[in-house]
Amino acid sequence: MSPFDAVHFNDKIMKGVFAKIYPVIAEDLLNRCGIRSGLCLDLGGGPGMLAVRLAEISDLQVIVVDPVPECIELAEENAAEHGRCDQVSAQLGQAEKLNFAEGSVDLVVSRGSVYFWNDQAEGFREIYRVLRPGGWAFIGGGFGNAELRDEILATMADDAEWKSGRAERAAKFPPSYFEELLAEVGIEGTVDISDRGSWTIFTKAA
Ligand SMILES: C[S@@+](CC[C@H](N)C(=O)[O-])C[C@H]1O[C@@H](n2cnc3c(N)ncnc32)[C@H](O)[C@@H]1O
Repeated sequence: MSPFDAVHFNDKIMKGVFAKIYPVIAEDLLNRCGIRSGLCLDLGGGPGMLAVRLAEISDLQVIVVDPVPECIELAEENAAEHGRCDQVSAQLGQAEKLNFAEGSVDLVVSRGSVYFWNDQAEGFREIYRVLRPGGWAFIGGGFGNAELRDEILATMADDAEWKSGRAERAAKFPPSYFEELLAEVGIEGTVDISDRGSWTIFTKAA
């Protein structure tokens, strides 16, 4: 994802209009899987605010994995700003080639990133490989709840580029797309569409 402007995303989006969604999404994902300790990867975590919010409400060690060097720097800065250097770190990488051992990860999260991966099937295979038995993955996007979604849509109403990018992704990646992707890679999972967002969810059999 070369044209990704990490500094703009960090200042204007992640710490701006989107700031309120990360605590809500963090709480929701942890409530759904019940995992509150161990190792969590945030794939395509960008400047790391979901990782910070996950760390704040759990004992998880969270590693942001992102291919953009500025994201790694910003994620480390944001972790420091929120006093979470002991729990949140960041490393360069891609979902399609994870630098983690088989069965070594308790939880994989990824918000707003899968749409940009070059090889989503390989990304899913890699996530499944690194998950420990009983570990969970949540791969998707969304704004946490209907109220936050509507607030963000209203705030971004004049941003034609953001709106067209969102519409393009919605058309390119309908729920059936991720259902077919799960089938293609042979992973049992669900595609959950609700006011919370659109999430492909799976666990590794214990
Ligand atoms: C729209 S941003 C989302 C950032 C963050 N997850 C959030 O929700 O605020 C998409 C992120 O996906 C990352 N990305 C693009 N291709 C990727 C890949 N193949 N593997 C992992 N991350 C990727 C980008 O660098 C960028 O940080």
